[in-house]
Amino acid sequence: MKQKIVAGNWKMNKNLKEAKELIKGIKKEVKAGLKDNTRVIIAPSFVNLQSAVKKTKKSIVEVAAQNMHQAKSGAYTGEVSADMLTNLGIGIVILGHSERREYFAETDELLAKKVDAALGNGLEVVFCFGESLEDRRSGNHFEIVENQLKKALFHLQKENFKDIILAYEPVWAIGTGETASPEQAQEIHAFVRELFTKEYGDETANAISILYGGSVKPANAKEIFSKPDVDGGLIGGAALNAEDFAAIIKSI
Ligand code: 13P
Repeated sequence: MKQKIVAGNWKMNKNLKEAKELIKGIKKEVKAGLKDNTRVIIAPSFVNLQSAVKKTKKSIVEVAAQNMHQAKSGAYTGEVSADMLTNLGIGIVILGHSERREYFAETDELLAKKVDAALGNGLEVVFCFGESLEDRRSGNHFEIVENQLKKALFHLQKENFKDIILAYEPVWAIGTGETASPEQAQEIHAFVRELFTKEYGDETANAISILYGGSVKPANAKEIFSKPDVDGGLIGGAALNAEDFAAIIKSI
């Protein structure tokens, strides 16, 4: 079943002490008043995952990793495997974020391997995709999005998609304060759902959650989330403040 989800991607922010404080704040804010079908996810950096799992144990807050390596184990200095994550009690990993694509040269082909490794280890994947400003300006955004999804995900079987959450993050809206309009988000989300209908059928297309990410704030969340194909948000900057994050969660 399609779920409502608000996820916070903390990126390279918050040391251990700050992460604990933020979790405490979020737990206090979201204790009451969430609709049954709403999930709340936070993604701290690797070094703070263990503590985050412990601190969220008795709450509805779930913990995700921001990345992982595709290999089982081995000589990959500085990397973290799927098994290391599941062993800590992590059930979710974000893959394909545009910052990973841009600064760490992650390609669609590599992401396909990471997705396979994550699913193979029982992890749920928040898969990010989205066009650059240049692609948007030249009107290529539909084609770019279609290619990203096809290359990284469309080798999967229908049943795999119960463990995939999609996150449309137009690069031009990330950390820029410039949000896609609710109509622009809806347009791409509907396009993506249609792609899934064509490839996997209505049931899969209607069950998959598609989040929007890019400068979501308490002030604009409600309007974006009100669109029929927007099932929640992947939040960056505003997820670093408990009150703001909670306000976004409550507006779903
Ligand atoms: P901002 O909300 O800071 O624009 O970041 C969005 C994002 O990249 C979430 O993954």
